[in-house]
Amino acid sequence: MGGASASFFYLLLSLLWVQDAAATGLGSTRSDFPQEFVFGAGTSAYQYEGAVVEDGRSPSSWDTFTHAGKMPDKSTGDVAADGYHKYMEDVKRMYETGLEAYRFSISWSRLIPNGRGAVNPKGLQYYNNLIDELVNHGIQVHITLHHLDLPQILEDEYGGWLSPRIIEDFTAYADVCFGEFGDRVASWTTVNEPNIGILASYDVGTFPPGRCSDPFGATKCTAGDSTVEPYIAAHNTLMAHASAVSLYRKKYQAMQKGVVGISIYSFWSYPLTNSTVDLAATRRCKDFFFGWILDPLVFGDYPEVMKKIVGSRLPPFTEVQSELIKGSLDFIGINHYYSLYVNDRPLEIGVRDYSADMSVIFRGSRTDPPSGQVKRTPCHQCVLQRSY
Ligand SMILES: *[C@@H]1O[C@H](CO)[C@@H](O)[C@H](O)[C@H]1NC(C)=O
Repeated sequence: MGGASASFFYLLLSLLWVQDAAATGLGSTRSDFPQEFVFGAGTSAYQYEGAVVEDGRSPSSWDTFTHAGKMPDKSTGDVAADGYHKYMEDVKRMYETGLEAYRFSISWSRLIPNGRGAVNPKGLQYYNNLIDELVNHGIQVHITLHHLDLPQILEDEYGGWLSPRIIEDFTAYADVCFGEFGDRVASWTTVNEPNIGILASYDVGTFPPGRCSDPFGATKCTAGDSTVEPYIAAHNTLMAHASAVSLYRKKYQAMQKGVVGISIYSFWSYPLTNSTVDLAATRRCKDFFFGWILDPLVFGDYPEVMKKIVGSRLPPFTEVQSELIKGSLDFIGINHYYSLYVNDRPLEIGVRDYSADMSVIFRGSRTDPPSGQVKRTPCHQCVLQRSY
């Protein structure tokens, strides 16, 4: 079962490589798209900035993770794309390329090194400089508040996303970002792809804080519980999102006129056959993968099928929480990677993680072997190199 779960994950990650090949040779031009369609590019702080010990930045969970040698190739983001030093060249290239928008994430531990409280003036200056440079080149600014890189200090203090204490700290961090940068920002994404980041962090253990439990990990973890932690982390993420959105709407939106939402990792799923069980499995897959995050944001609660299968391991929303979260987005960001064929895997009795709860089998093509038998490719290293 651990093997199936890990293979599911490797399959998703390995798809990140495939998309480049698929994207070439489409033969489309700008005029094939509506005028209001915006073309842009994106990065995330840890993959882009480097300068991890410069100008008062404190370590994020990714620094801890990579410095413990947890990447298969032992790489780190210490230098990354050196964007902290090269952002002016990069904005010039964006302008020359004709990009209309740029999406980047803020390093929380660069802006607020203690996780909460005092703002680091040099961190503030860097983001103000970057934003001004974009505005001066006529490039729309899209900011992601959190792209997997929690200040390590909050991880140490209360376990980061596993504690509801994150809600208050995330909201205070968001308040600083909205207040300092919001006059020039078109869109805010609160959290990037929680529907896969959380699985990597708390189910299979391949992202920081690297938590998982036997037999579900793709790696050996020293702590964690794959059967419940992903659901707890998602719950706290959703509440932190809702709280930040509520703040933006009350305090900033009327004046700043930006929009706020969340992004999800997306692959589309097709039923492998038209059998009743495969059609249900495909539906279940979408409910687990999209509905886990989006149903609460749209309807105020988790999908019925998740509540039924996950049972008491899925934290319930109180009425107050449900009201706060319902409708708490202006847009849904979809980071789309690929499509997969899905068929039913009977639900296992006994201890289950998220993948076992979803109980489906994936195939990249109709003729592929089922995902539980796919040979593992060590592709989780791509996360440092690809915009993920
Ligand atoms: C399932 O049914 C749909 C609609 O009738 C059809 O387009 C599709 O090809 C069928 N898929 C398979 C695998 O038979």
